[in-house]
Amino acid sequence: MKVFQVEGDWTMDNVRVSSRPDPVPGRGQMRVAMRAAAINYRDLLVPLRGYGQRMKALPLIMLCDGVGIVESVGPEVTRFRVGERVCPLYFPNWLAGPPDPHKMAAALGSEVDGTMAEFMVGSEDSFAAPPASLDDEEAATLPTAALTAWRALVTEGRIGAGDSVLIQGTGGVALFAIQIARMHGARVIVTSSSDDKLERARQLGADEGINYREVPEWGRRVRDLTQGEGVDQVIELGGENTLPQSLRAVRTGGTISMIGVLSGGKMSASLGQVVTRHVRLQGITVGNRDDFEAMSRAMARHGTRPCIDRVFAFDEMLDALEHLRSGRHFGKIAIRF
Ligand SMILES: NC(=O)c1ccc[n+]([C@@H]2O[C@H](COP(=O)([O-])OP(=O)(O)OC[C@H]3O[C@@H](n4cnc5c(N)ncnc54)[C@H](OP(=O)(O)O)[C@@H]3O)[C@@H](O)[C@H]2O)c1
Repeated sequence: MKVFQVEGDWTMDNVRVSSRPDPVPGRGQMRVAMRAAAINYRDLLVPLRGYGQRMKALPLIMLCDGVGIVESVGPEVTRFRVGERVCPLYFPNWLAGPPDPHKMAAALGSEVDGTMAEFMVGSEDSFAAPPASLDDEEAATLPTAALTAWRALVTEGRIGAGDSVLIQGTGGVALFAIQIARMHGARVIVTSSSDDKLERARQLGADEGINYREVPEWGRRVRDLTQGEGVDQVIELGGENTLPQSLRAVRTGGTISMIGVLSGGKMSASLGQVVTRHVRLQGITVGNRDDFEAMSRAMARHGTRPCIDRVFAFDEMLDALEHLRSGRHFGKIAIRF
């Protein structure tokens, strides 16, 4: 089968189209013919061995997002039938409940092979059905960015109608967070480096936008917009440089979901504010199968469609990564097989 993998050594120059033997499903396993994949920020770090301590020995098949059709099943498979459409889970072992080391031990496209392959074979438990209303490129974007936003806002954040949420930037996680927050009747404030992107975020459902280049003290602006109280939840994607502003922006007793460290991973915020204002700092790494299924049902019911920036062909995966690196995208970057 045709694959796109890192081989030989950990550099971007060694990411290339290659071939592997066709995998055969064993007991309880399915073989899925992949139809589409999608890119995440982490995929820029993976080829440099920059994503975690336990990365798989090379060769490593790239990417963690994708969708495909069940093409054949091994003995004792009962959850899916041949012909059904499924997404592989980001964490194949995390099906339900809180995270633990076993559930988080393997992630696609880093500790185990990823989605850039003609076929994927895995336990029937490690796949979930996306909403039928989405096309393949849209469905392929759900397992990482969308599920992370869902886990933060819904499973951990317990978002409710009338809540307010501050979302950083207009990348993949951020745009899903806007859609999920709006689906729950929350008020959404978004930050971005671009007025044009803020306008597009408003069209997607954001109530207010702040340009973080023009307003570096945006935490104060968020408080002004919320009658001095601050927001119930923050989707924290910037990390080191943005956390101090997030601590200004969050209300007493509010939650900051720590998801990304785009500006650096050191902590230089006022810990006193965390203590005295009862702030909950919640680490988030994607989510489990129950989260995925709940999100799929909600998206189907609300007619939510992922925002797709651009679709590339399989052989153009490196161009797709460069497009992500450029920061010009608004929405997910997908790959059609
Ligand atoms: N923990 C998890 O499970 C998980 C899952 C997915 C992603 N992540 C992490 O979340 C982050 C975003 O991932 P993504 O896939 O959504 O990336 P992405 O699509 O590349 O989005 C990046 C966007 O973030 C905004 N941004 C960049 N630097 C910023 C800063 N200093 N302050 C505020 N916003 C900033 C920019 O928005 P504007 O262009 O509008 O300025 C940029 O377009 C990455 O760090 C990624 O590793 C974590």
